Amino acid sequence: QTTLRDSADAIGKDIGVAVDVNKLQNDASYRNLVATEFNSLTAENAMKWNATEPSQGQFTFAGGDAIVDFAQQNDQSVHGHTLVWHSQTPSWVQNLSAAQMQSAMQNHITTVMDHYEGDVATWDVVNEVVSDSNGALRDSFWLQRLGEGYIAQAFQYARAADPNADLYINDYSIEAIGAKSDRIYTIAQGLANQDLVDGVGLQSHLILGQVPSTMEANLQRFVDLGLKVRITELDIRIPMPADGNELAQQKADFQRVTELCADLVDCSGVTVWGLRDVDSWVPDVFPGEGAPLLFDDNYNPKPAYDGVLAALGGT
Ligand code: G3I
Repeated sequence: QTTLRDSADAIGKDIGVAVDVNKLQNDASYRNLVATEFNSLTAENAMKWNATEPSQGQFTFAGGDAIVDFAQQNDQSVHGHTLVWHSQTPSWVQNLSAAQMQSAMQNHITTVMDHYEGDVATWDVVNEVVSDSNGALRDSFWLQRLGEGYIAQAFQYARAADPNADLYINDYSIEAIGAKSDRIYTIAQGLANQDLVDGVGLQSHLILGQVPSTMEANLQRFVDLGLKVRITELDIRIPMPADGNELAQQKADFQRVTELCADLVDCSGVTVWGLRDVDSWVPDVFPGEGAPLLFDDNYNPKPAYDGVLAALGGT
């Protein structure tokens, strides 16, 4: 019986998991499974702005550092999440004037990326900059204060901070071809023309039975821009309680998404957004839905695990 990790290593892909620092430090079962089954880690919360710069100029890297240390002990890479977002960003940032906000953004990107240079090789530079309606830019405080140029500006600061890092634009509901992914495509194309972006992160918070039929073509069009793609936050939620048929459908869905990445040279990998179902953000935000991950609450692999394993070529 091979692991996800061994199978992914064999085909040169990342298989990642979003991790919680407290569980990593305090739960040996959690730690062992994360180390055994995955070759890449993303901080679920610990590298976000409210964690790394809660007060202006006061940087706190303890949580992110604990994840990096764990990853290094276990020969895992770390995907950085995230530098510029509208959520989990302290109010002190949101209340700045335009000039102050731009310089705070530069200082944040520079300081965080400098701190992790050599340890974190890929970054979600901007997260969720496109809205859910008509592909308009999200009407965030970033856009309101700085105008649409803030996106390219963030990538320029990131490129300058760590020229060796792969820089991603990351968003949800961009797995299918449609207004939102079209806008991401246009933004990515503009950034690619200036050599400011290296990849597109498709979060892939999916609904059972709804892997988009256009997902393969969508990934391909980003690759055709010369970019990498990455499935950055995969989970597939089920109306609760989940029955056997639903778990079988979930297996097929996980397998399909993972195969799309495995079959695409320029797809760097797949990260699942949490270890066990009980670790997931989904039930908090979508009451009545859940069971969206690869392991049950007792650390046992679900059918979805076998789907991912098969897609990675493991048995
Ligand atoms: O840290 C506090 C803790 O002190 C407090 O006791 C507790 C009470 O609710 O809250 C804790 O903070 C929570 C934090 O997760 C850490 O557990 C926040 O309330 C909660 O809102 C936060 O949720 C995170 C969410 O992002 C915030 O937007 C989820 O864990 C995290 O999975 C989720 O991840 C996002 C990605 O970053 C971007 N894409 C979507 C994805 C899912 O929403």
